Amino acid sequence: MSNILNSPIASSVLGAKVLAVTSGKGGVGKTFVSANLAAALAKRGRRVLVLDADLGLANLDVVLNLHPKITLHDVFTGKATLDEAIVKAPGGFSVLLAGSGMVEYSRLTPEVRDEFLQVIRSLVPRFDVLLLDTGAGISDVVLFAVSLASEVLVVATPEPTSLTDAYAAIKVLATQQKRQHVRMVINQTARPGDGRAITTQLQQVLDRFVTNGTGRSIRLIHVGDIPADTSVREAVMRRQLLMVNTPGCPAALAVSELARKLDETVISPAESSGART
Ligand SMILES: Nc1ncnc2c1ncn2[C@@H]1O[C@H](COP(=O)(O)OP(=O)(O)OP(=O)(O)O)[C@@H](O)[C@H]1O
Ligand SMILES: [Mg+2]
Repeated sequence: MSNILNSPIASSVLGAKVLAVTSGKGGVGKTFVSANLAAALAKRGRRVLVLDADLGLANLDVVLNLHPKITLHDVFTGKATLDEAIVKAPGGFSVLLAGSGMVEYSRLTPEVRDEFLQVIRSLVPRFDVLLLDTGAGISDVVLFAVSLASEVLVVATPEPTSLTDAYAAIKVLATQQKRQHVRMVINQTARPGDGRAITTQLQQVLDRFVTNGTGRSIRLIHVGDIPADTSVREAVMRRQLLMVNTPGCPAALAVSELARKLDETVISPAESSGART
């Protein structure tokens, strides 16, 4: 898979930055982060598309309250064009939804690989950021989706099970994909500073046990914490984006800060302010 990392997609400077949002354990907040980060980046003037890369168990449509007639499945099977499948989400960004329950996409066949790659290639020139909301864990489909990204955001919560699973996933990204670094978002934190401390601990374990093939350990870059916030669940229950429903709540402010950091360090590091209005 390392060859894909060197492909024009991953190294493209002219087109979109491709960011995979992934995790070891399920249910830690990948879809919440992807959708709300997209809204926050859109507010900063970026052209953003979120791709539901959890092909078999997609649920981005549920969170955004969208009912698409055309999905990625129709693009893959040639029944619709890519343009027909791209939907405008309430937060001012675009989405490409996968549709749920497509058993045929739970396995990585050469056809799925080719179609997926083709879709990403077509999207890169048209956006500033592509966010790939992947499934959890280290299945072939998840790892393939992550391999298409130039940057990886690993979402974890402070729970021990989430952290051991994050460790396992990061280990695979270091050894199989030869990643030099991944960026960490610690979600559902209880206190300020929790995420940094957790990231430091995880880094120490990785330094002891994992090298990425170059003899060096993979570097974790802590990009932010999102506090546990009852407004998140309320927004999900209403099927609204947090950034739209309660933009001033602590979790929404944390997502805005995350967007600012990523904008300035990953998406357009050359622009001094990072904002394009
Ligand atoms: N910061 C937070 N504060 C409170 N609750 C949260 C927070 N982040 C996520 N949640 C809760 O966790 C639930 C699961 O989040 P989400 O669906 O984004 O996880 P996921 O990682 O995408 O799951 P899956 O692995 O199934 O795709 C949300 O519906 C929400 O109720
Ligand atoms: Mg999800």
